[in-house]
Amino acid sequence: MLHIAVFASGRGSNLQAIHSAIASGHLDADLRLVLSNHTDAAALSWAAAQGIPTVHLRYDAKDGGGDILELLHDHGADFIALAGYLKLIPAHVVRAFRHRIVNIHPALLPSFGGPGMYGRHVHTAVLAAGVKVSGATVHLVDEEYDRGPIVRQECVPVEEGDTAETLAARVLEVEHRIFPEALQLFAQDRVKVADGRVFISQ
Ligand code: GRF
Repeated sequence: MLHIAVFASGRGSNLQAIHSAIASGHLDADLRLVLSNHTDAAALSWAAAQGIPTVHLRYDAKDGGGDILELLHDHGADFIALAGYLKLIPAHVVRAFRHRIVNIHPALLPSFGGPGMYGRHVHTAVLAAGVKVSGATVHLVDEEYDRGPIVRQECVPVEEGDTAETLAARVLEVEHRIFPEALQLFAQDRVKVADGRVFISQ
């Protein structure tokens, strides 16, 4: 069973998908904490309304990230899910939670990721590149944006009439399914990392 802290900067639809997967018994976990760098993040108010502990934390990644580890410890969290979290995770937190932090990205990494590649920017870049498929990626988090071994990936077609919004909506549907599925692999202790790759045991 995972004791998850979700970090979210905005809307929180992936947070809600994780919550639903737990409620329906598809994900063996509980939500210990929702942390945001924005006081007005919809994810925070939604979590508070569900009775999930929430924290607003502002930090500069270079200053060491304040007291994140203490917060996680105090709430009994042993796993971190980044669900639309726009800040870099401080190196000491990555070290302490090595292979215990995952992120969801709305494209097929390692393409269309990295600094500045978030939200609409991702889908605009996908359309500008003219690729015929996009998708969603769940990956382990390391010290850089959108890097780290890939846990799960799924494609969606890019349609000729797509705008950034229609493509984002198609990708989001996949995100809401594969993020809880990927978390369940950790809950079942089926994820192994070797040579920078993730292997899933049966
Ligand atoms: C998602 O598209 C996710 O892939 C990206 O940020 C967005 C967050 O959406 N990292 P939400 O806040 O979960 O609704």
